[in-house]
Amino acid sequence: MEDRLNELRAEALARVAAATDEAALRAVDKDYNGKEGAVTLLLASVPGLPPAERPVVGKGANVLKRDIQGAIAARKEALEQAAVEAERSGAGFDATLPGAPQSRGSLHPLTQVRREVEAIFTSMGYAVLDGPEVELDYYNFQALNIPADHPAREMQDTFYCDREGRLVMRTQTSPVQIRAMERLAPPFRVIAPGRVFRNEEQDATHEHTFHQVEGLVVGEDITVGHLSGVLKGFLRRFFLRELEVRLRPGYFPFVEPGFELDIRCPFCDDGCRVCKHTRWVEFCGCGMVHPRVLDAGGVDPEAWTGFAFGFGLDRLVMLRYGIDDIRHFMGGDLRFLEQF
Ligand code: PHE
Repeated sequence: MEDRLNELRAEALARVAAATDEAALRAVDKDYNGKEGAVTLLLASVPGLPPAERPVVGKGANVLKRDIQGAIAARKEALEQAAVEAERSGAGFDATLPGAPQSRGSLHPLTQVRREVEAIFTSMGYAVLDGPEVELDYYNFQALNIPADHPAREMQDTFYCDREGRLVMRTQTSPVQIRAMERLAPPFRVIAPGRVFRNEEQDATHEHTFHQVEGLVVGEDITVGHLSGVLKGFLRRFFLRELEVRLRPGYFPFVEPGFELDIRCPFCDDGCRVCKHTRWVEFCGCGMVHPRVLDAGGVDPEAWTGFAFGFGLDRLVMLRYGIDDIRHFMGGDLRFLEQF
């Protein structure tokens, strides 16, 4: 019986030493210590042995079992160590294998078009300004000639940020008009692109978060002619063709007179879904800066005049690419975004 133990020991340890991977080690463990393993069977036979042999074989088999398990664990660690060292040595590294492909992102269409708009206006001498998205009621409304109880407030369903109603998510980029006048001495021309927020029912043309581009020019003897010339010039460069425009009277408390500027539908000659079969699409609100607004910005209305406009950037991107639903912009669907 002791011979049998020695035999098993020699055989098992040789197999452990020869194993080159974990699977081989698991097989050794199974063949000796598994349910039907040689050592297991030997142990099971102990009760049937002559009494004198039982303690020797029983103890010997248990020691052998432990030794095999120890040898397996040691071999496994050695193999792992060797694998780490092989990798560190650089041997077997193939520099010519292709790398993991890196997918390349692209700028959001809103960003691309915003940059284009900025480039066109900066080429016309405009500076690009920023303003806070969480804005004081004062800048978003009061300084723009919209007092607290004015019905015009209902044109824009506002997210308020505090109970007192002093802080709002700006509903328009027009507050940057006041901030611009406070900071700059006329004459100046600026645009202010940015995000705006309204508590609107969402549909294909309305989002709670959207984007506007504000424009403000303050100078001597600025007229409606300058306003329409600048907007026409911008549209020509943006759409790369002459698009007919029309000015309709429009009410915005911070301009007088105020207009809505429409453009000829870029998609059709005789009516389509985009223009709702009117052949015109609304492009922006605009007008001559109200004297009270100049005053609020610290600009003398006797000495200076100005025009302002505000258009929807989302709308412009939709017109450029024929996108039919504004919700795509913030939807985060890669199938949409990867097209740009
Ligand atoms: N702020 C206005 C709006 O959001 C647009 C506008 C800007 C109108 C400047 C006139 C002048 O509807």
